[in-house]
Amino acid sequence: MLQIVFRSQLTKLLSYTDIQKLCLASARNNRKAGVTGFMVECGGVFLEAIEGETREVDETFSRIRHDTRHDQMEIVYSENGLDRRRFGAWSMNVMFLDDDVFWQTVFGTGFSCDELLSSRALEPAFALGLLAMAYQYACTQAKVEPPPAGARPGRIPRIGHMLRR
Ligand SMILES: Cc1cc2nc3c(=O)[nH]c(=O)nc-3n(C[C@H](O)[C@H](O)[C@H](O)COP(=O)(O)O)c2cc1C
Repeated sequence: MLQIVFRSQLTKLLSYTDIQKLCLASARNNRKAGVTGFMVECGGVFLEAIEGETREVDETFSRIRHDTRHDQMEIVYSENGLDRRRFGAWSMNVMFLDDDVFWQTVFGTGFSCDELLSSRALEPAFALGLLAMAYQYACTQAKVEPPPAGARPGRIPRIGHMLRR
């Protein structure tokens, strides 16, 4: 399996609702392709992980990178030969990181969503750590368990799963 993690920036700001719609459309496409993933957003900047069979992830990623709604695309990390899914709960879900409670609970004081805009978000360890912690937080908040081995991964999120203040 292939995992790709990228950061990109919206060319024009979108509302929470528009981002939720984008996430749902992505989740539906990903579900058909057996792709799972997770993204965080703050101030129009996205950090997103997608994972699944190599061909499907490549196809999905090439569609994403041609989308003119965002640019400044940087691949932060990619791993081929992934042994298991790291973000298997949803085919795609989004968490809005303009949530001080998240930063304080997970990282402590002094951290904010500015981290996503800084060059730190391009460090693979930081980006993967941030996505993993946001994913865990979202699973807990939404009371969603990552699927057990053998079960079909990647639910479509409900509106209440796309966490925002
Ligand atoms: C930040 C961002 C993340 C996206 N993530 C996905 C994704 O994970 N899967 C996907 O199919 N489309 C994703 N899209 C949308 C695609 O770029 C593209 O618009 C969509 O796949 C086209 O599908 P459609 O023909 O069904 O509308 C994303 C777009 C943006 C701006």
